Formats: sequence, structure tokens, C-alpha cells
Amino acid sequence: MNAAKKIMQRIETLARITDEPGRLTRTFASPAMRRANGLVAKWMRAAGMETRVDAMGNLIGHFEAKSEDGKKPSSILHPSSSPRLLLGSHLDTVRNAGKFDGPLGVMLGIACVGELRRKKTQLPFAIEVVGFADEEGVRYQSAYLGSKVLAGSFDAKELRRKDAAGIALAAAIKIFGGNPEKLKSARLDPKNLLGYLEAHIEQGPVLEGKNLAVGIVTAIAGQTRAHVTFIGHAGHAGTTPMARRQDALCAAAEFILATEKLARKTPGLVATVGQLKAEPGASNVIPGEVKLTLDLRHAKDSIRRSAHLALKKNAFQIAHRRKLKIDGEVVHETAAVACSEKLSGLLALSVRRHQKKVLRLPSGAGHDAAIMAGITPAVMLFIRCKNGISHHPNESAKAEDVRVALGVMSDFILRLAKAHE
Ligand code: GLV
Ligand code: MN
Ligand code: MN
Repeated sequence: MNAAKKIMQRIETLARITDEPGRLTRTFASPAMRRANGLVAKWMRAAGMETRVDAMGNLIGHFEAKSEDGKKPSSILHPSSSPRLLLGSHLDTVRNAGKFDGPLGVMLGIACVGELRRKKTQLPFAIEVVGFADEEGVRYQSAYLGSKVLAGSFDAKELRRKDAAGIALAAAIKIFGGNPEKLKSARLDPKNLLGYLEAHIEQGPVLEGKNLAVGIVTAIAGQTRAHVTFIGHAGHAGTTPMARRQDALCAAAEFILATEKLARKTPGLVATVGQLKAEPGASNVIPGEVKLTLDLRHAKDSIRRSAHLALKKNAFQIAHRRKLKIDGEVVHETAAVACSEKLSGLLALSVRRHQKKVLRLPSGAGHDAAIMAGITPAVMLFIRCKNGISHHPNESAKAEDVRVALGVMSDFILRLAKAHE
């Protein structure tokens, strides 16, 4: 079977590993994530890698492509200080997810290593393929838990976060088999890193519109995720006159529409209220309290920040006018991150070998590359996706485009090896 077909088949197999029967949902440190790590580790070993799961639950495959002066190649159990190139993406998913968001980058990384081994290619550096444990932030509402640990930017205060079932992050890590006290030691040493290459489905319509299989990411948009709570007064839906109500859901509705309006009139700004919980939640009771999530993104941090301030002011005004209380907190914030120009230039040479046009485009979606860029030059290859659909079960990519991506990545590795010698 050719390598691209094998990747497609593996993506199908992984999509069946889920925490929710009938739809793909695989969140941080869940039973499905454990099974996914086990299976992907098997595929890594079949490609010639040694594997380990770090204290956070990130799966790492290590491939030493060259012995040093005829000596036995070093292994992850006895790591050399030889430089290494990181490839990878995340293995967690959103709720009712598509199959490609995350796993495609991990499968491509493994396939690159498989090709190197098959062709007995000698490289002056090692390759590590990472399956990050959490990028989406579904379970703990804080994205990039996996990459933050590897990049050494994880804040131990996060360990106190609780999931919807009340399980603290520290406990979830322990249950999974990790060690919340050893997260610092999982940090990768930037001295040994040559760079990080992440392949990812585009999750948007640009490449398809230009009839291109792949593109190069210029920058990853910054994001703010916040929680907002409107606190009003629950009451009888049949007897409370309209003028006397303190309906928290009406306030939330007003806020959601104001959010949409601001994003529509601000070029490049995207804003989403993705979760809403009305209490007590009965058709004959006025909603007394509503919790909602806000997700704001822009390639320019200053625009994102002023949009956040404007929306905050707006939320307070709505609450004041409706005589409600309001509470809120920012739960996640990352600045916009530029991809490495040097590595992107190298990647452009590889893309040019496979398609006529080299298209560079920004990413509105968040990626582990945004965090890894804090410790090593990061570069991203986007793969065309059907109708721009993502975070949805219809998410899809073509085997032919995956084949092109694999060719580009393999070529990039060889170019990097040449540049390194
Ligand atoms: C991750 O996919 C995100 O951009 O939210
Ligand atoms: Mn995603
Ligand atoms: Mn993703």
C-alpha cells in the first residue's frame, strides 16, 4: 500500500477511538486518548522509532537516523545531545470532531520517518514525532496543555483547573499515568532543537479556492478565550411581568449579537460564543444565570485586545441596564505568532518541487506550532480541505493531497539535512 493511502487508513482507524459512541470526541487524558496513544505508539515503533509518553501524556517517537562514528545510535533512553527536528500535531479532538484536525500531522510525521528508514537515509540529526496530548482545550478550557509542557511555558497554577465533572487537572494527569510534579522535566531543551514542522489540514477554503494541494503558513492568529456569567433572578415564567424580570439569557442573547456585530464590522476579527449554559434550565422558569464562552481571534494582537475591551464594556453595560450582576475571566490568551522565515523559505523550495505556485497564508486556527515557536523555529504546511469545513464530522482531505504533503515534508527534511552539514 502506498504511504498516503496508509495515512488515510490510519486516520479512519484513529477516528473510531472516541470517548463518545457514534461521534468522534477525544479529550485530554481520557480513556480514548490512552487507546489512541497506544495505537499511534505501535505505528511509531513499526516505523523504526523508540517511543515514550511524557509526564503530561504527550506521545513522542524518537528516530536516530545516523550512528555517530559507527557507534550504536543513541536512543531516547540514553539520549545524545545531537540536534533534532520535531514533527507532529495533536491527538486530542473537539466534540463531534472531524478526523483530520491533528492526527493528519502526526501520521505524516510517522510516514516521513518510515520513508527515511525504508530508503536508509542518513541524517545528521534525529527526528522526534510528537502527538500532543491537548491542543483543543476542550476538557480544561485551556488550549495547548501538551505543547506548553514541552516548551516549558506551562503554568503550574493550571493544575488546579477542574473539568465539568470536577476532576482537577493534576488528578487527571495522575489517573492517565502521568506525573503533575514532573512536568518541568518534560520540557525539551531548546539547545538541541533545529525546528518544528507541523502539517495540518487548512480548516478553511483558501487552498481549495486556488486549486492548490498545500500552502505555507505565515503566522498563527492570537486568541483570547473568556468565560462570562450573567447573574439575574430566576422566577415563574407564567406570573412574572415582563418589566420585572432579570432574565440572564436575554442579556446573553444581546451580548452574543453585539459580539457578532463587532466581528462583522472589524476586518479580520472572528468572534464566537460556542457554549452557553442557562440555569436552572426549564421551559417554565426564567433563566436566572447564564454562563457563556467567548473566543476572539485576530492576526494583530492590538485589534484583538481592543475588541476584547469593547466587548467587556458592552457586557457590563448590558448587565447594568438589565439590573443583572456580571462576572468574567480570561481563561486562555496567546499572542499572534509568526512562523520562521528561514524554515518557511526552505519549505517553499520543497513546495515548488511539487506544485507550480507557492501560496503563503495566515492561520485563523490555533496550532501547537504557536507554542513550539517559543523555543524553536516553527514552520507549518497546510493541506487543502474540502469546502473549508473543519471542527465538524464532514472534515475531509484527499489522499492525493496527502501524498503531495508527504513529498514536500520528505524533501524539506533532506534540504534541512544539507543545510545542517
Ligand atoms: C483549535 O483548533 C482552535 O483553533 O481552536
Ligand atoms: Mn481544532
Ligand atoms: Mn488542530
